[in-house]
Amino acid sequence: ASTAATSVSISGDIASQLHGGYSHPLARAWQAERQLTKSMLIYPLFVSDNPDDETLIPSLPGQYRRGVNKLVPYLTPLVRKGLKSVILFGVPLAPGSKDALGTNADDPKGPVMSSIRLLRRSFPSLFIVADVCLCEYTTHGHCGILRDDGGLNNALSVDRVSDVAMAYAEAGAHCVAPSDMNDGRIRAIKLKLIEAGIAHKVVLMSYAAKFSGCLYGPFRDAAGSCPSFGDRKCYQLPPGGRGLARRAIQRDINEGADIIMVKPASQYLDIISDAKDIGQNLPVAAYQVSGEFAMIHAGAKAGVFDLKAMAFEATEGILRAGATIVVSYFTPQFLDWLSN
Ligand code: PBG
Ligand code: ZN
Repeated sequence: ASTAATSVSISGDIASQLHGGYSHPLARAWQAERQLTKSMLIYPLFVSDNPDDETLIPSLPGQYRRGVNKLVPYLTPLVRKGLKSVILFGVPLAPGSKDALGTNADDPKGPVMSSIRLLRRSFPSLFIVADVCLCEYTTHGHCGILRDDGGLNNALSVDRVSDVAMAYAEAGAHCVAPSDMNDGRIRAIKLKLIEAGIAHKVVLMSYAAKFSGCLYGPFRDAAGSCPSFGDRKCYQLPPGGRGLARRAIQRDINEGADIIMVKPASQYLDIISDAKDIGQNLPVAAYQVSGEFAMIHAGAKAGVFDLKAMAFEATEGILRAGATIVVSYFTPQFLDWLSN
């Protein structure tokens, strides 16, 4: 036994000494497998059919519903700051613009298809994702075509959703992202993309593991897509369904998805980690949804934590779980926060 004064600290297990490894801010950053960068972020945009619209969405702090005429002025400074990608959601507001089949989802003059063309022209390096769903365009607010008993008609829904995806891809979307959760839509979209000869230049991002729950409220306010009856439990996953999520992720990979997404994000970090495990050879995206964003704002407003610190902590947790792409309403702020 040594008698030197220093023996106490060095006689133990040397692996117990961790502090030195993360004492410097840079060394702390190096502890992360994946560090947040601007290119990981996709910013959601709500585009309405009223060209000059610029309406604040009260339940989604700082987010607006915008008409096509407002997009370029709004996005120009963001692109200059390093915005790489947006995901478009159409919001038909005009009376009579919704029907049982969601006919206006692929209206060539509608907000989504006009903004795809406009953004491709105006921002050649911006990556355009088009969310594909019917709920914004159906009178009943569900994500497909219904049977007489109110349940989803899966075959008709897949047919329609894949036609809408094709229309967005033909209009120039770099990526189509079906969020409807009808069984078999990834395969149907992939086959139509192949048939049209554009499968080689369109990314197919599946909302593979999308859970039903109460975190989508502000989005439905923004998009006007709240179901007029019932809920989405027969097509969105039950929150406890980890095995079911694994099956959905595997299925969508088998059907030809290029990216798989998990949604919501922070409440489902184990699912993100499963997605990374199952989908080792493809990118995993996570959608930090409207309710998560609103909660962080509410917590900051109540003095529970600092907004920026929490936005980083939540997003870094999502990356740690396995995502390398994050759909985030914080994107404009991150462009500022990440610039030095
Ligand atoms: C449905 C859809 C939802 C979101 C985007 N597309 C969920 C839903 O309404 O069930 C939610 C996104 C968010 O909350 O930010 N097609
Ligand atoms: Zn939907």
